[in-house]
Amino acid sequence: MEMTIRDLKKEDISLCATIATSSSLQDVYGFTEMGWKEKLEKALEQEENLLFVVEYDTSIAGFAWAHPVGAFLCAPYLRFISVNPTMRGKGIGKLLLQEFEQRTSHLHKDYFLLVSDFNTEAIHFYEKQRYERVGALSDFSVVGVTEIIMRKKRLTS
Ligand SMILES: CC(C)(COP(=O)(O)OP(=O)(O)OC[C@H]1O[C@@H](n2cnc3c(N)ncnc32)[C@H](O)[C@@H]1OP(=O)(O)O)[C@@H](O)C(=O)NCCC(=O)NCCS
Repeated sequence: MEMTIRDLKKEDISLCATIATSSSLQDVYGFTEMGWKEKLEKALEQEENLLFVVEYDTSIAGFAWAHPVGAFLCAPYLRFISVNPTMRGKGIGKLLLQEFEQRTSHLHKDYFLLVSDFNTEAIHFYEKQRYERVGALSDFSVVGVTEIIMRKKRLTS
């Protein structure tokens, strides 16, 4: 099976919206496929966004959405990442995360993201890729949920 990574295209949006709404996050944040389609369509229109997918044996297995200076207007921010539930545990999430870091490494800044406190699977996944908890935002997106701020220090040579 071959994995390839490429930019997200307009025709991928529908499948990516399905993948985005196939996790437990949906229940808490009220994600809908239509809502995600609209979000991704808008995101694609804004050139500065980084949107890319992993194809696993010709079908889309996951996608990521990032902004090069989405953190503090100066550092890379991973807005969202999601892997098709049937394709998890095959290294696809790791590939997407590495792509985010590679595409923004020229900025020479640390990498940032937010993850919900109840999303322990994702927190473990990020910790394995050397992201550390550096702060918390209570009631930020949803009352009762704390968003953990995670940061990966860029490698200095
Ligand atoms: C989090 C997510 C992106 C991980 O994707 P994935 O393709 O299953 O992860 P990978 O197979 O690439 O795993 C990479 C590494 O993380 C580890 N890992 C993945 N999930 C893990 C978990 N639940 N607990 C511990 N380690 C985990 C893997 O063991 C692997 O380790 P290795 O590098 O030593 O082999 C995926 O579970 C997902 O889409 N979740 C739903 C959406 C979501 O929560 N997104 C995050 C929003 S902030």
